[in-house]
Amino acid sequence: MSVNETISSAAEQHENSVPVQDVVTEKKREDMPVQEGKTVGLPYADDPKFKLRNVEVFYGEDRAIKDISLDIARNEVISFIGPSGCGKSTFLRCLNRMNDSIDICRVKGQLMLDDEDIYHSRRDVVELRARVGMVFQKPNPFPKSIYDNVAYGPRIHGLANRKSDLDDIVENSLRKAGLWDEVKDRLDATATGMSGGQQQRLCIARAIAVSPEVILMDEPCSALDPIATAKVEELISEMSESYTIVIVTHSMQQAARVSHRTAYFHLGHLVEVNETSKVFTAPQHELTESYITGRFG
Ligand SMILES: Nc1ncnc2c1ncn2[C@@H]1O[C@H](COP(=O)(O)OP(=O)(O)OP(=O)(O)O)[C@@H](O)[C@H]1O
Ligand SMILES: [Mg+2]
Repeated sequence: MSVNETISSAAEQHENSVPVQDVVTEKKREDMPVQEGKTVGLPYADDPKFKLRNVEVFYGEDRAIKDISLDIARNEVISFIGPSGCGKSTFLRCLNRMNDSIDICRVKGQLMLDDEDIYHSRRDVVELRARVGMVFQKPNPFPKSIYDNVAYGPRIHGLANRKSDLDDIVENSLRKAGLWDEVKDRLDATATGMSGGQQQRLCIARAIAVSPEVILMDEPCSALDPIATAKVEELISEMSESYTIVIVTHSMQQAARVSHRTAYFHLGHLVEVNETSKVFTAPQHELTESYITGRFG
């Protein structure tokens, strides 16, 4: 079954998943209601990689994520879009517990990865983050050689017994990240001397090197020029054959180019999730419509 089929067939089984509303184009943003816990479109999937139910995230007393339920399908690329401060990064960081490092942050609800509780008290967070890797907005290579950046994860996770095994992992990861030909003759050069686009692909190679199942990307192209952006987008499309990818982006064109589904967030709510082409051509919720037509954001 394709990614789209698994999402569509699951939606039919969830009676609260498709409360279609008429698009009202003339109303103002303030008049546009969001029904808590109700997401229009196709938020569910059969046999999901992530099953997320009634997720709430608090920073102290402030509720940044308000009762969000969503499935993320296996080998799906899903984009999170929405105005600044709507909770995209906060929700993304729940998926590999990156919020743990923020003292005042509390996560509630059910968050399952392959039917295992991500927030279980005995969960090994280091192992979780090897399975669910992350690429950040600003490329953040270590001040080490290109080789050592990619070899870092496999070394700490003990994935290679011999130098030749490690060499193979480094080469394969750089190949998958589309960087091998550019760097194969200077693996010992320091990574911080690379261009921004190369550094970001190196960070992708570093994430791939520990054989993750999921890659989270928080605005991975916002610091890149259009050519480097195109390379990373091409890579995302290729990687979707092997990984589940969740990408936060402020570029609707990017969401349209790379993702199967797009999720629209607004003030901590998940307003609408649907096949990407539907979100951009026939949004069901008036808030989504006003955002994608550029009336606010
Ligand atoms: N470390 C933090 N401490 C306190 N509040 C936070 C923290 N991080 C985020 N918030 C708050 O949570 C809400 C959601 O923020 P978040 O960064 O997830 O939004 P976002 O959609 O990723 O925005 P942007 O598009 O600007 O990156 C905002 O109100 C923000 O101020
Ligand atoms: Mg963010």
